[in-house]
Amino acid sequence: MSRRDDSSPPGLAARKAALAILSDVLRRKRPLDIAAAEVLGAAGLPARDAGFARAIATTALRRFGQLEALIRALVPKAPPQHKAGPTLEILIAGACELLFLNVAPHAAVDAANRLAQADGKAVHFKALINAVLRRVAREGAGILAGQDAVALDTPDWLWPRWVAHYGEETARAIAQAHLSVPPLDLAFKSPDDPYTDLLGAVRLAPGRVRLMDAGRIEELAGFHEGRWWVQDFAASLPVCLLGAVAGRRVIDLCAAPGGKTAQLAAAGAHVTAVDLSPERLSLTRENLARLDLTAELVAADVRDWRPDEPAPLVLLDGPCTATGTIRRHPDLPWLKSAADLNICEALQGELLDAAAGMTAPGGTLVYAVCSLEPEEGEEQIGAFLRRRTEFSRAPVSPDEVFDAAFISRQGDLKTLPCYWSDKGGMDGFYAARLRRG
Ligand SMILES: C[S@@+](CC[C@H](N)C(=O)[O-])C[C@H]1O[C@@H](n2cnc3c(N)ncnc32)[C@H](O)[C@@H]1O
Repeated sequence: MSRRDDSSPPGLAARKAALAILSDVLRRKRPLDIAAAEVLGAAGLPARDAGFARAIATTALRRFGQLEALIRALVPKAPPQHKAGPTLEILIAGACELLFLNVAPHAAVDAANRLAQADGKAVHFKALINAVLRRVAREGAGILAGQDAVALDTPDWLWPRWVAHYGEETARAIAQAHLSVPPLDLAFKSPDDPYTDLLGAVRLAPGRVRLMDAGRIEELAGFHEGRWWVQDFAASLPVCLLGAVAGRRVIDLCAAPGGKTAQLAAAGAHVTAVDLSPERLSLTRENLARLDLTAELVAADVRDWRPDEPAPLVLLDGPCTATGTIRRHPDLPWLKSAADLNICEALQGELLDAAAGMTAPGGTLVYAVCSLEPEEGEEQIGAFLRRRTEFSRAPVSPDEVFDAAFISRQGDLKTLPCYWSDKGGMDGFYAARLRRG
């Protein structure tokens, strides 16, 4: 643990950490969660400072398109990165503090100057940083008001695709939902849990509640007693498509970290959960132990693994671009690209074929992805049904998923981040139910 430097002004260590996290994500293309865990773990900051560092990095990424456009407007001739070091990140983080985190101008500008002073390259741009951030403090809100925020904060590999597929109005609503901090949803082991000890919890459905401002998960009532697990409301819907699972055998493919495994086990299913990643499966194991639930866990590639016999119920929650979860992962649009979409699409096709072979005649296969991209959802299933004619779509009915708006014209589950926006939105999910003849 590093010691706090008492000669530093309050918050400087937090800002240094935020800068390191931002550089890790933007330059080294490392996921925000991993970068934040590493940087904050090494910095040993008090909880409040760690929270401030996380808020700067997360908000700067959520608003990255707007902040970058603002800085580019004020610094049309950007200094080359090999000379400027983290100058851009210092400007982005400083502007983020000023415009989105309500930090007093003198505190944000002074901290940015100190961060520049401490860096061998950025120090040469200290005067520029100081001048630009002073202008941001004076003029930034006005410039922001004239920006098209949702289009700027959605990178070019996504925005035109969403406009083409969903239409501009819905694309805007989706991108707007990404600008808010998402709530925390909990799924209870018992649908009858009264959850009266969870302050501010709002009921979404039986055994599903939402907290708008949750704080630390481990400190919430019921965590250590294993009464609930964290699961976005939309992420809990694909399991509903399997119908009554109590006492039945379910093969849960691509299962880790195990939200759906817990859901199935809590509902009384005999679950075999398969995932490629032993590290992620150990999270599943920990979660199941905390919840006092059981499932058979198998570390294997779904494309190679075969069950002893086909099962009546199979769930495939495939790896995907995860563009339905941008609210929770604001780094994702800036880390991924259209190339990832192609890779995921090909893999999903192979996983679907493997899952089909594990589904008993007369059985049900549910395919799910937390993606907004049609290639990973409806088009993937269209192609599957054309090549596997022994399967047919079993349309979902509104009473299975709580809201008719969640059902597509083809009868699949389709949620968007802008749905239930008055209640705090939800992840974007696609799921199809397929019956083997
Ligand atoms: C969307 S996540 C699954 C989330 C999980 N079902 C839940 O509800 O918590 C996708 C998972 O697929 C796994 N995966 C990716 N490729 C795989 C493969 N070829 N075989 C098995 N698992 C794979 C990843 O390790 C990852 O845990």
